[in-house]
Amino acid sequence: MDKLKFAVVGVGRMGSVHAAHLLRGRVKGAELSAVVDLSEEAQARWEGKVPTFALYEEMTERVKPDAVIIAVPHYAHLTIARFFAERGIHILIEKPVSVTTAEAEGFNRFLKESKLATKKNPQTAVAVMYNQRTNPVYCAAKKLLDGGAVGEIRRVNFVVTGWYRSQAYYDQGGWRGTWSGEGGGILINQCVHQLDILQWLVGMPDKIFARAATVGRKITTENAVTAIFEYKNGAKCTFSASAHELNGVNRLEIAGDKGRLVIGETKLTHYFWDKSEPDVNRDTVKGYGSAKKHKRVYRYGPRRISDLIFGQQLRIVKNFTRHILQGEPLISPAEEGIRALSLINGIYLSAWTGEAVGLPIDGGLYEKLLKDKIKKEQVNV
Ligand SMILES: NC(=O)c1ccc[n+]([C@@H]2O[C@H](COP(=O)([O-])OP(=O)(O)OC[C@H]3O[C@@H](n4cnc5c(N)ncnc54)[C@H](O)[C@@H]3O)[C@@H](O)[C@H]2O)c1
Repeated sequence: MDKLKFAVVGVGRMGSVHAAHLLRGRVKGAELSAVVDLSEEAQARWEGKVPTFALYEEMTERVKPDAVIIAVPHYAHLTIARFFAERGIHILIEKPVSVTTAEAEGFNRFLKESKLATKKNPQTAVAVMYNQRTNPVYCAAKKLLDGGAVGEIRRVNFVVTGWYRSQAYYDQGGWRGTWSGEGGGILINQCVHQLDILQWLVGMPDKIFARAATVGRKITTENAVTAIFEYKNGAKCTFSASAHELNGVNRLEIAGDKGRLVIGETKLTHYFWDKSEPDVNRDTVKGYGSAKKHKRVYRYGPRRISDLIFGQQLRIVKNFTRHILQGEPLISPAEEGIRALSLINGIYLSAWTGEAVGLPIDGGLYEKLLKDKIKKEQVNV
C-alpha cells in the first residue's frame, strides 16, 4: 500500500521536528511530501529535501497531500485547519487548538455539521497535539483513576513551575508571550499541556477563581498564575504555575476518599487504604481514625530524557497515522482541544474581572476583553 503523503505547514521550531521525523521514516506508513512556510529562510532549510512552498493553497493544488500537520502560531491554526477539512484532508493541529473557546466551538460545530467529525466519517481524522497524554506516568494515572483507584476525588493540587523562561526568551521578539501574537503568556503557550492533562484525568470544573501576574520580566502577558477550580462534587483543585522559579517542578497530587496519587515528572506513587474515609468515619468511635496504607510505584521508563524532548510528539503523529490507516482510536481528538482552552480562557477571565467564573465562559465577553488587551499592548509598544 502507498504511504500517506504528509505536508507540514509551518516549519519553525516545532514543525521542523515533525517534518524531520517524517523525512527520516520514523512514522511507519507515512512520508514527507512537502513543507510550507511563509518565511524564505525556513523554506531554505528544506530545499533539496522535499518540495517547499510559501502558501498552503498552492501546495495543496500541486502536491495533493493526504494529511497535514499545522505548526504555525496559534491564531492561524483553525483558519488553516478549515481549509484542509473542507477538502477531506486529515489534520493534526499543534496545541493549543486555537486561542478562544468561541473559535474552537465554531470549529467543532463546523466539523459536526460538515460530517467531518471523526466518528461520523472515519476517513477524515482531525487531531490536536496534546502529546503529554502519551507520558507513561500520566497514562498509568488515567488508568488508575478510571478504575476508581482513589475513590471519589476530593482534592487536587498541581504545581507547574518547570517552564523557566528568562527575559532573553521574550526579547527574541516575534509572537511569543504577547496578547496579539498568541493570546497570552505561560498559560496558553506552556501550561496548555498540563491543563489538558488535568481535565483528562479529573474532568472539567464548574467554576474558576484565579489571579495572574508578571514577575521579574518586562512582558505584557503573565508568567505566574494561581487558580482554584471547583468541581461538581465539591472537590477543589489549586493550580500554581510560573515561568520564573529556578529548578521548578511539575507535581500533581490527586486525593480521594480511598487513596492518593502523587505524580512527579517521571514517577507515580499510588497510595491506597484498605477502608474508605466514610467507612472509617462511620466505624470509628474515638475522635481520630486511620486505615492501613498500601503503596505502588509506577515509573516513566528507561528512555526518559530523549522521550521527554520529542518522543511524546512522535507518538501522537504515529497514533494519528495508525488511526487513518488502521482505525486505531485517536489519543487526542481535535474536538477535545476546547477543554484545556476553556480552562485557560476561564482563568484569564477571572483574573481580568476579579470574579469567580462559571463554565462554560461567556465567549463574547472574553473576545471583547482580549481585544482590549491587544489594543493596549499595541499602544504601549
Ligand atoms: N507540542 C509541543 O510540545 C509544542 C512545542 C513548541 C511549539 N508548539 C506549537 O507549535 C506552533 C508553532 O510553534 P513554534 O515554536 O514552532 O513557532 P515558530 O515561530 O518557531 O514557527 C512557526 C513557523 O510558522 C510559519 N508561519 C506562520 N504563519 C504561517 C502561515 N500562514 N503559513 C505558513 N507558515 C506560517 C513561520 O514563518 C514560522 O516559521 C505553536 O502553536 C506552538 O504552540 C508545540
